[in-house]
Amino acid sequence: MSEDWSARQYLKFEDERTRPPRDLLAQVPLARPRRVVDLGCGPGNSTELLIERFPDAEVIGLDSSPDMLRQARERLPGRSFVQADIATWSPDGETDLLFANAVFQWVPDHPAVLRRLVSALPEGGVLAVQMPDNTQEPALRLMREVAASGPWAGNKALDAAARDDLPTPGGYYDLLKPLCRHLDVWHIHYNHVMPGPQAIVEWFKGSSLRSYTSALDPAMREAYLAAYGAKIAEAYPARYDGKVLLKFPRLFILAVR
Ligand SMILES: C[S@@+](CC[C@H](N)C(=O)[O-])C[C@H]1O[C@@H](n2cnc3c(N)ncnc32)[C@H](O)[C@@H]1O
Repeated sequence: MSEDWSARQYLKFEDERTRPPRDLLAQVPLARPRRVVDLGCGPGNSTELLIERFPDAEVIGLDSSPDMLRQARERLPGRSFVQADIATWSPDGETDLLFANAVFQWVPDHPAVLRRLVSALPEGGVLAVQMPDNTQEPALRLMREVAASGPWAGNKALDAAARDDLPTPGGYYDLLKPLCRHLDVWHIHYNHVMPGPQAIVEWFKGSSLRSYTSALDPAMREAYLAAYGAKIAEAYPARYDGKVLLKFPRLFILAVR
């Protein structure tokens, strides 16, 4: 992403955001990897899981954002973190696991990058990936709709803010299986219990909304968020106790070279 991420905003929902990497890690069929790289490590929450699971491995966190790397280093002192762009980075021959939770959706032409990284793994090496597959969910559809209809309509950066739909599971299979001994592609639909509709806005302020809000000046940003929040309140009705459910489909890929 061009703009920096706010680690603090991202970690407001740490429990919910750390559940997909737990579910992904549970499927990794490695006992003693030599080196593990956490691609798009963010503030270190996924890196911490990798260290717990593989205490004897050299675990390295990689991210392009200085803010995220600073938080990760504070959280896990003495561990290695590197600033790099996944689009151009390559692993060395001792790297047995590439773990990428919630990052490849931001990498331009990510299917080609996935192919390149799988090709670089040693035999038996693993690439484990999780991406949000939520572009057709109300939360993301409403970001696009509000961008297209307010006083900010026509702003080119806003028009470019929407994320493309992911390829289908079959598309990933055809792309990666020729390079792999084993390939598994699956979805999990989480239903996160949120305190109310405004919490959904806060959740996405730590991720997808940033591409929209960073394109607006402060006054327009507030107006955009207010319009978005009103639509979210309509789309995510309160349950019996006032809480709302944020349905969140995510796509998982496990590739064994
Ligand atoms: C949504 S966070 C995921 C954090 C963590 N992996 C987790 O499981 O919660 C995505 C991270 O990917 C990083 N990122 C985005 N594009 C990147 C790229 N091209 N190269 C490296 N890191 C990137 C962002 O800076 C951000 O820290």
